Amino acid sequence: MTAATAPGPQARAAVVCGVGAALPSAVVSNADLTARLDTTDEWIRSRTGIAQRHIAGVDLSTEDLAVQAATQALAGSTPVAVEALVVATTTPDRCCPATAPAVASRLGLTGIPAYDLAAGCTGFLYALATASGLITAGTAQAVLVIGADRLACLPDPEDRTTVPLFGDGAGAMVLRGGSVGEDGALGPVVLGSDGTLADLIRASHPGTLHMEGAEVFRNAVERMSAASLKAARAVGWDVEDLDRLVPHQANARITGFVARQLGVPYDRQLTNVEHVGNTGAASIPLLLAQATADGRLKARHRVLLTAFGAGLTWGATTLTWPDLP
Ligand code: COA
Repeated sequence: MTAATAPGPQARAAVVCGVGAALPSAVVSNADLTARLDTTDEWIRSRTGIAQRHIAGVDLSTEDLAVQAATQALAGSTPVAVEALVVATTTPDRCCPATAPAVASRLGLTGIPAYDLAAGCTGFLYALATASGLITAGTAQAVLVIGADRLACLPDPEDRTTVPLFGDGAGAMVLRGGSVGEDGALGPVVLGSDGTLADLIRASHPGTLHMEGAEVFRNAVERMSAASLKAARAVGWDVEDLDRLVPHQANARITGFVARQLGVPYDRQLTNVEHVGNTGAASIPLLLAQATADGRLKARHRVLLTAFGAGLTWGATTLTWPDLP
């Protein structure tokens, strides 16, 4: 059930060379929610750590958010020829066709392989594993990976237990071919799933999200902690070696429990959930882009990424953060 994608025999690796992010401009605060739901700012903050979330209006699609984040990632990247594009999303604008070909064409990349991938909030890590495979196999010299979601459309607007949790956004990462051991090289990506627990988080269409919060909470902590340890051990790191833990921003209590279980001190955890909520597949690249821009994440920091989501799915990987232009 759990697979690790190890680097190829030539010690070729996928190397991060750019990150970007996009958020809708409209913000919904906890105070806005208390005006229409039977809840309080105190309840939401104490249970989730969330104070506000960005929400896309009808004029801003998942595809639009993906294009915005990718444009920023490409603008801030070392120059590369992108030869494949993967969009991780649970909330595509339509069932068919996939989001990625349209995103590629809007970026001027018509003709390259482009496809979507769905793995809930773990989607970005699944997409990184895919990009790593494309690069190490020699299929693509550089790959653009995007996580984009409009999760705020999934809950029933009257459901006070799920509405406060989710926000919309996108994050993107450019990866190029390089060598194991150089800064930015992805370590093995640990991935897993358990479909016997598919009913814990499910939605057939917008407005129908069902979540069994306590069970999801328990599984999220357990799965992210175990995957993190496995990914760290795969590159010979102890927890003390980590400079930054970057967990999927499901909510602050979950990420706090993961950090405590791993023994990672508070000042080595990156978080943005207070300002954006749970943005699904966008969560990790959005946080990486913001933390790079504001200096919380610096070149040569040893970073551990971990995520958990509907499926159930989970994953983790490591890298030493590169010196981005
Ligand atoms: N405001 C006020 N009260 C609320 C509320 C809200 N927004 N939402 C739920 N409540 C109430 C419930 O009705 C319940 O009341 P009762 O005891 O009278 O029945 C009480 O608070 C406790 O509800 P419960 O669902 O047991 O709370 P919880 O402590 O499990 O916290 C979550 C709820 C959703 C915050 C928590 O389960 C969680 O974080 N789960 C994981 C969610 C997640 O991150 N999912 C995505 C993973 S990728």
